[in-house]
Amino acid sequence: MCGITGYIGNESCSTIVAQCLKNLEYRGYDSAGIALLDDSLEVNKRSGEIDNLTVPSTSNATCGIGHTRWSTHGAPTERNAHPHTDCTERIAVVHNGIIDNYEEFKADLLDEHQFTSETDTEVIAHLIEEALNEDGVDLREAVERVVSKLSGSFAIAVTAVGYDGIVAARQDSPLVIGHDDDATFLGSDVTAFVEHTRTVTFLEDGDIARLTEEGVTIVNDGEVVEREPQTVEWDADAAEKGGYEHYMRKEIHEQPRAVRQALSGRIDELAGTVDLDLSLSEEYCRSLDEIQIVACGTSYYAGLYAAGLLEEYADVRVSVHIASEYEFKGNRDPWRTLVVAVTQSGETADTLRALRKAAGAGARTLAVTNTVGSTVTREVDDTVYIRAGPEIGVAASKTFVSQVATLTLVTVYLGQQRDALSSNERASILEELSAVPSSIQQVLDAEPTVQREAKAFADSDSFFFIGRRLGHPVALEGALKLKEISYEHAEGFAGGELKHGPLALVTDETPVIAVLTDETNASETLHNVKEVESRGAPVIGVTSDDEPNAVFDTTFDVPSIGLMEPVVANVYLQLFAYHVAKEKGRDIDKPRNLAKSVTVE
Ligand code: F6R
Repeated sequence: MCGITGYIGNESCSTIVAQCLKNLEYRGYDSAGIALLDDSLEVNKRSGEIDNLTVPSTSNATCGIGHTRWSTHGAPTERNAHPHTDCTERIAVVHNGIIDNYEEFKADLLDEHQFTSETDTEVIAHLIEEALNEDGVDLREAVERVVSKLSGSFAIAVTAVGYDGIVAARQDSPLVIGHDDDATFLGSDVTAFVEHTRTVTFLEDGDIARLTEEGVTIVNDGEVVEREPQTVEWDADAAEKGGYEHYMRKEIHEQPRAVRQALSGRIDELAGTVDLDLSLSEEYCRSLDEIQIVACGTSYYAGLYAAGLLEEYADVRVSVHIASEYEFKGNRDPWRTLVVAVTQSGETADTLRALRKAAGAGARTLAVTNTVGSTVTREVDDTVYIRAGPEIGVAASKTFVSQVATLTLVTVYLGQQRDALSSNERASILEELSAVPSSIQQVLDAEPTVQREAKAFADSDSFFFIGRRLGHPVALEGALKLKEISYEHAEGFAGGELKHGPLALVTDETPVIAVLTDETNASETLHNVKEVESRGAPVIGVTSDDEPNAVFDTTFDVPSIGLMEPVVANVYLQLFAYHVAKEKGRDIDKPRNLAKSVTVE
């Protein structure tokens, strides 16, 4: 995710701002920049590493803002790096998140303003420029006016020539202020400045904070508000992980935000429409004969999930291929086959090879990835970003859920283009999709129950995961997660397959985790639950249905949201894997023998 820093105090601050930015490196970024405020504004930005910045150590500026960018709109170039400035280069803005409605402002601003980047952020600088042109408007008021027009999720920091200090605003994206004796800091998280101060104020949604040498004033909805400063106990290492012991747990907890970002600005829930900025014509979508999904590991399971949705709602034949096993068969019509590569890193060698085979045969290609500028994006006809933000834990968690959310958008988009779904049907899927973030939050809130069960079963040598239909890829992914990070044997099965072989392995020491939500043929899976229970196996039911609870030894409750319940159920399986691995003292973020990006075949 992008990172924000800010400083206002009585020291010359260029190296302080740069150091605070370095502290945010762990979040992942592809470009960086700082703006120092003196009599004029000195902006320095570069693609690539923070070390590429020219930080003027002789600057007298005592106020500055900085940013590390993880691209979502526009390539990771110097032009698109933050801070962004207005036409007069007197206002500098850094921004985390996504402005959903920036295009409507940009269209109006283009008549009188010069844009230099492809970002959504730059509109903020020009809108503030316009607001400041009005009589009697100061920087805080200008930011307040602009922010009230923006939709999306954002945290911004603004500094401007002629105005003292920094103005910061938060909507759905974290910002925290650090209070030192002679200085005030700003950060997208405490890590930015924890070496200077542990006394902090977390901003809340709707807050506009003004940071000056005199102190901090916070306004929300036009009223001055007092926010109680807190003392953080974290050391720098814990702060990097936002207070979590492992990146993986932090990333599991980031999922509500990650899904919101995947949906942000792409859906009109009422009209039931999806805009993914794709070049696929309606004629092409209608003529499609087959979609082939190519992927590996967790991304392959996201592909299996998507296949279930695409076949049903976009009315198209779908085949899902383990990328290393893929051959583009000669009997397909390449023009009528869309090959979709699902890959969080965008660099997986097996997936790239499969994609090249398909493109070589003349098929159209689409990438669903998390990484702007990755190899896959340079080789395909179209890309849809999942916008999960950087994932540092080797085992995929938030990228799986964001892949599924994004592929659901692709499904609705194709359903719309192919006239396979009415607008009401599309609206209903989008409504269920929009309920995913809050439903995931409910699962996260139930973590203590999962932790207790993980502790109870941590010594088991073998775990089974079962599910049907959309519960099947979730069972496969649950088992993969557990084996990767706990090093214990775990297998996922289609519930119906148990009796065709695996049942021979089930004993009273084989915990079975069964996914029985909507879209998983729960009543049939219940038969499988009975099969394993009669062999003495303890069963954890991950279910949205109240009725069968009595059947299970333990129940993990999934909120009832329909179509997307299985992906929400997956969050329980992530937490279960995490806590079993933690109980066993495994190296959760860097499991043995595994790499985050697998660039060899
Ligand atoms: C499992 C995991 C891997 C990846 C696989 C593909 O937790 O992370 O199975 O899903 O290596 O990687 P990407 O998605 O980068 O192509």
